[in-house]
Amino acid sequence: MGSSAEFPEGTLQNVLEQDSLKWIFVGGKGGVGKTTCSSIISILLASIRESVLIISTDPAHNLSDAFQQKFTKSPSLVNGFSNLYAMEIDPTVEHEDSLGSAATDGFVSELANSIPGIDEAMSFAEMLKLVQTMDYSVIVFDTAPTGHTLRLLQFPSTLEKGLAKIMSLKNRFGGLLSQMTRLLGVGDEFNEDAILGKLEGMKEVIERVNKQFKDPDLTTFVCVCIPEFLSLYETERLVQELTKFEIDTHNIIINQVIYDEEVVESKLLKARMRMQQKYLNQFYMLYDDFNITKLPLLPQEVCGVEALKAFSRNFLSVYQPSITRGTLEEVEQRVSALREHLKNAEAELDRLNKGKQKA
Ligand SMILES: Nc1ncnc2c1ncn2[C@@H]1O[C@H](COP(=O)(O)OP(=O)(O)OP(=O)(O)O)[C@@H](O)[C@H]1O
Ligand SMILES: [Mg+2]
Repeated sequence: MGSSAEFPEGTLQNVLEQDSLKWIFVGGKGGVGKTTCSSIISILLASIRESVLIISTDPAHNLSDAFQQKFTKSPSLVNGFSNLYAMEIDPTVEHEDSLGSAATDGFVSELANSIPGIDEAMSFAEMLKLVQTMDYSVIVFDTAPTGHTLRLLQFPSTLEKGLAKIMSLKNRFGGLLSQMTRLLGVGDEFNEDAILGKLEGMKEVIERVNKQFKDPDLTTFVCVCIPEFLSLYETERLVQELTKFEIDTHNIIINQVIYDEEVVESKLLKARMRMQQKYLNQFYMLYDDFNITKLPLLPQEVCGVEALKAFSRNFLSVYQPSITRGTLEEVEQRVSALREHLKNAEAELDRLNKGKQKA
C-alpha cells in the first residue's frame, strides 16, 4: 500500500514552509501520537524558525516522556537546542492564581466559580497573555484528547458569556448585596471590582488571540489519527468542530500505518493491515482536499530526542518501506521470522512435554 500511486502522498512540508504561522495546534484521539507528532514538528521548526515554544495543555503531560526531560509551567530550553523551549500547563489548577487573592471570597468570585469552564478559560487566557509577551516565532500546542481541545477553543465565548452573566447579576443585585455584606461585615466592593477588571482584561486577551486563531495565515490545526474506525469518526467530528470555530485545518497525519511490504509472516499483522487499508481508503476519500501524511508503525516507541529526530524524516518525505516483497532481503527476513517461530514452538512443546512427565 505504501507505494501505491492511487492516492497523492503528502508530507508536513507545507506547514514548515508556511513561515507566517504563529500557532500550530496538534490534536486527535487519545494515544494516537499527538505528543510524538507535536514534538517532531517543533524540532523541525527549530531548525528553520528563530525560536519555537511547545506547550502541552494535556493534564496528563507527556512532553517530559517524549523529550526525556522534566518541564514546568514556565518555558525551559530543551536539552541540545538553543531555540526550542517547552512548557507544560495544567488548565485545571491555576484558577486561584489567575483571579488573584481577591478571588478567595465575595459575590463576584462565587459567581465566577459557578460558570462552567470559566476557571480553565481564565488560566488559558493567563497563559496566552504570558506567551504573547515572550515573542516566540511560533508556538506549537500538544493538546489533550479531542473533547478537551474543543473546549479550549470555546474559551473566548465561555468568558464572554460568563462576563455578561456576572455583569447583569451584579447590576440587578449588586446594591442589595453590598448592603448585606457591609451589614454582615464581610466582602469588599473594591475586591469585586478588581476581579471584574481582571475578567475584562482576560476577555480582551482571549478575544485578540481568538482573532489570530481564526486567521489561516497565523494558525493551523494538524489532526493526528490512526487508521481505525473510532479514530476516523473522531477526526471527522474534530474537523467539523474546527470548521464551526473557523479554525484552519488542512493536514491529517495518519500514524501507526502497517505496510504490506513489512508484514513478514504474521497473520495478525496481515489482518490488521487489511483493516487499516479499508480506513486509509476512507480517509483519502473523505479528505481529498487535505495533505495526508502517513507514518509507519514502528516496532518500538518513539522516545527521546534522537528517536524523534530519526522519525522526523517521515515528516519531510514520503515513507518508503525498507524492504520490498520478493527481494532477497525480504525472503531472508521471512526465513528468519519462521526460524524464530519454530524455535518458540519447539520451546513451548518442550515445556508442555516436561509438564506432562511430571504429572
Ligand atoms: N508510529 C509509531 N510507532 C510506534 N510507536 C509510536 C508511534 N507513534 C507513537 N508511538 C508511541 O505510542 C505512544 C503514544 O504516543 P503519543 O504519546 O505521542 O500519543 P498521544 O496521542 O500524545 O497520547 P495521549 O493521548 O495519551 O497524550 C508513545 O509511547 C509513542 O512513543
Ligand atoms: Mg500526549
